[in-house]
Amino acid sequence: MRAAVAQDLTGIDGLTVTEWPTPPEPAAGQVLVRVHCAGVGPWDVGMLSGGFPGLAAPFVPGQELSGVVEAAEPGSEVQPGQRVYATTFPTGGGLAEFALVDSARVAAMPAALDFPEAAGLVIGAGTAYEGLIDKGRLRAGETVLITGAAGGVGSSAVQIAAAVGARVLGVASSGNHDYLRGLGASDVFDYHDPEWAAQVRHAVPGGVDLLFDGTGGQTRDSALTTIRDGGHAVSIIAQAPLGELDRGITGETFAAHVDRQRLDALSRLVQAGQLRPAIEAIFPLEHVHDALARVAGGHTRGKIVVQIAA
Ligand SMILES: NC(=O)c1ccc[n+]([C@@H]2O[C@H](COP(=O)([O-])OP(=O)(O)OC[C@H]3O[C@@H](n4cnc5c(N)ncnc54)[C@H](OP(=O)(O)O)[C@@H]3O)[C@@H](O)[C@H]2O)c1
Repeated sequence: MRAAVAQDLTGIDGLTVTEWPTPPEPAAGQVLVRVHCAGVGPWDVGMLSGGFPGLAAPFVPGQELSGVVEAAEPGSEVQPGQRVYATTFPTGGGLAEFALVDSARVAAMPAALDFPEAAGLVIGAGTAYEGLIDKGRLRAGETVLITGAAGGVGSSAVQIAAAVGARVLGVASSGNHDYLRGLGASDVFDYHDPEWAAQVRHAVPGGVDLLFDGTGGQTRDSALTTIRDGGHAVSIIAQAPLGELDRGITGETFAAHVDRQRLDALSRLVQAGQLRPAIEAIFPLEHVHDALARVAGGHTRGKIVVQIAA
């Protein structure tokens, strides 16, 4: 089969598109998927540079995918011929014509989505759902500030928070502000403006109930000042976990675990018309370098997807 293979861990340039052994028939607890699309994100760039301990070259990257079930054991939740979406994190394998996936981490994809959209939803929306709903316990009527709001995770976070009935404040470059309003943000802020956090405190004088941090760094430091006393912060920046917080604010940094239950929850939001991934660009497998270079630029709006089959 054709696959993108990381021959070494020197970065995007270590990746070649080549022939690679087709995975074997699925063992118990596995499903073989004929891959149509694979989403890519900053984690792929990190993995290709050796940023994930335990990952050795050569390997096939690609941690989120959509496609059609090729083989599954009898009684499995998904059956041959079914359109599915899945995560293969952290072992990868999605940037190939066939991928073996854990049967607990694959689900029927929403009928309303095409293959690029479904692949682009898995990690971004799965992470946003876990952070906002399961960890952040966001409720209708609360306020949530989302940094990195126009990216792959943030674009879904804005929609999921709006679906909950929260007031959504999004932080992004000014060129993304109309985009964020279209996703459901009621207030938008530009992190390039040194006064942006003061503007948030002016918009929500008591402070926001929840911070969903998708950036870390200086933007997060400023965002922490906008949380109300006793509020909560969740961060997805594993390289820079949240430290000690003051004013009774609680916080946690987490690594997302996307499984069938979360994928099914995303599917319900899609079916209700409350969640739809925005795909910035689709690249053919032979142009996977261009896809990853776009991600590495750090200003993706929505998702970048690689198409393996039509
Ligand atoms: N813990 C987990 O389980 C988990 C899961 C998924 C992702 N992540 C991590 O979460 C981060 C976001 O992922 P993603 O897929 O959403 O990334 P992405 O699609 O590449 O989006 C990144 C966003 O960051 C914004 N940005 C760039 N520089 C910034 C700065 N200096 N300050 C504030 N914002 C800035 C950009 O916004 P503008 O274009 O508007 O400037 C862009 O939209 C990445 O570090 C990723 O590795 C962690």
